[in-house]
Amino acid sequence: MKQFRIVILITVALLISIATGCGPSEPQPITVGLIKDGVFDPEEWGKVYPLEYESWLKTKEPKPTGKTRYKRGWDTDEVIYDKLSEFPYTALLYSGWGFGVEYNEPRGHYYAVKDQIDVDPSRTKPGGVCLACKSPYHKTLTEKKGMEYLTAQFKDALTMIPAKMRETGPACIDCHKNDTMGLTTNKPHISRGLAMLGKKDVSRQEARTLACAQCHITYYVPRDRDKKVAGDATPPWTGSSWGDISIENIIKDLCTDYRRIEWKQKVTGFDMPYIRHPEFEMFSRGSIHWKAGVACADCHMPYRRAGSYKISDHDVTSPLKADLRACAQCHTESASWLKDQVFAIQDRTVSLLNRAGYAAAAAAKLFELAHARRDAGTAVDQALYEKARNCYMQSFLRIAFVGAENSCGFHNPPEAGRILGDAIAFSYKAEALLRQALAAAGVGVPESTNLELTKYLNNRGEKKLNFKREQEFKDPFDIEKYFTPDGAKGY
Ligand code: HEC
Ligand code: HEC
Ligand code: HEC
Ligand code: HEC
Repeated sequence: MKQFRIVILITVALLISIATGCGPSEPQPITVGLIKDGVFDPEEWGKVYPLEYESWLKTKEPKPTGKTRYKRGWDTDEVIYDKLSEFPYTALLYSGWGFGVEYNEPRGHYYAVKDQIDVDPSRTKPGGVCLACKSPYHKTLTEKKGMEYLTAQFKDALTMIPAKMRETGPACIDCHKNDTMGLTTNKPHISRGLAMLGKKDVSRQEARTLACAQCHITYYVPRDRDKKVAGDATPPWTGSSWGDISIENIIKDLCTDYRRIEWKQKVTGFDMPYIRHPEFEMFSRGSIHWKAGVACADCHMPYRRAGSYKISDHDVTSPLKADLRACAQCHTESASWLKDQVFAIQDRTVSLLNRAGYAAAAAAKLFELAHARRDAGTAVDQALYEKARNCYMQSFLRIAFVGAENSCGFHNPPEAGRILGDAIAFSYKAEALLRQALAAAGVGVPESTNLELTKYLNNRGEKKLNFKREQEFKDPFDIEKYFTPDGAKGY
């Protein structure tokens, strides 16, 4: 009875708020117009929904990079910021892989395909399958042409898209049903992913997250034994469930067999899987906002006035670059207080990430040494070596996970901290085991490891116009100084 009364109260409150037009987040009901089936071109959708179209086009404009600390995609001088310069150990860890040659901070949706065309060709080597998180045509082409499209050279796959739409990134048709304008998804991999999680019914609030999760998740590109592309992008979600996709389960899935092995790490010679932009996985693993029912769109597409209408902001970007307007829907604290919270969370996460990254880089260099000695005929204890290698993989994939997640910890601070704490422990364990194996084999190992970072940072993004080198790095890298109590921040 008591519950019933509460329901009535809420219903009355809702009706009043709708009637007075000041509901917490409901937009004015939109007038749904006619968009024919199979219309991909946003310009056509824009004829019916001009306000959202105009807002969507704004993802083209440079965003003020001074407002954010770590997510400086590109600024008004059109400088593109790159991650290898900012996190130099990634150049060593990803050496042998496109990401080790050029790895930029993300920028607006307008550039999704354009940036892919411009990026170093090593990054688009898999071919058509690279368009999975970029082009609205991916699903259609996969269904129509299958492997012919997925394995085509990247530039040939592009020509399968109608000329006008070739460079179009996330489009209306990716997120909206053309007839009702209800939310939807347009990627085969998210449908397969949801089936793996056993997720069936989707609430409106969940749809406001899934519209983003169709691209902002990790996936692997299935390979054959020669690492050639053998299928469409697939999320490594075996054994996971809705709201609980853990890094532990992801690693188990990725280490199943050769089909998930995508590249060879140069410094260690190890065959490796990879992890890409896992925003949804990180956010949905019990973050405080996920538990409070908050969706991606609440923070990245807040309602705003456009003339006499209230629309969802389609200029999807960092909430910091948009002055934290989105947060004010729920938080009464000032924007500057909230910004300090975001920065505090990110500083802590990045400090841990750097410690983990350098620790893994140091372990990788020891493997290099061990392999050189082994090749020269020194017998290294196999059991210790295998244990060390296992620990190293556990550490590497955790670092790749947090490093590729684009919020620097904000989406789920305790989870990011937990994962990085484990990453640091695994790297140190790997190093300790290797040192033990090498010592037993009579190999002297210096206390400090020279990471030779300059070697790996060669050629990074050099071909790119307006490329920004964040810092100059000294070689040999002073790892001793780094591992002092103040070291993590200094670099
Ligand atoms: C079709 C795939 C796709 C969909 C759907 C998608 N994104 Fe993106 N998103 C991308 C890609 C690709 C980039 C990087 C573009 C680049 O750097 O050129 C990106 C970049 C971003 C950025 C960085 C923007 C900036 O100004 O730096 C944010 C924030 C973002 N996405 C959030 C979202 C949210 C929130 C949603 C759901 C409302 C969403 N995305 C839906 C593919 C997608
Ligand atoms: C509670 C608010 C909130 C929610 C919910 C949220 N984000 Fe974020 N997101 C942020 C903040 C704050 C940042 C950090 C921005 C910065 O540092 O400039 C961020 C950063 C990002 C970035 C990088 C932005 C850039 O400019 O490079 C992407 C991409 C992103 N979020 C996507 C998502 C996706 C996808 C979801 C849902 C799975 C999501 N976010 C949910 C607040 C949120
Ligand atoms: C990345 C996903 C995404 C893309 C791309 C996208 N939208 Fe939306 N759109 C949303 C979300 C999320 C909402 C909020 C819907 C809700 O809460 O029910 C929305 C809402 C709308 C609405 C309802 C009114 C409003 O503003 O809230 C219209 C109309 C609309 N979009 C038109 C468009 C048009 C036209 C395009 C292409 C130019 C487009 N959208 C592209 C995600 C997207
Ligand atoms: C749709 C509502 C909503 C939006 C939008 C939202 N939040 Fe929150 N936020 C919450 C709720 C609910 C909590 C949990 C409050 C509590 O339990 O005290 C929370 C908690 C937090 C906390 C405390 C987290 C912790 O671990 O203690 C921070 C910091 C925060 N939000 C920042 C932000 C920022 C920054 C934005 C905008 C980018 C934002 N929030 C947007 C609802 C929201």
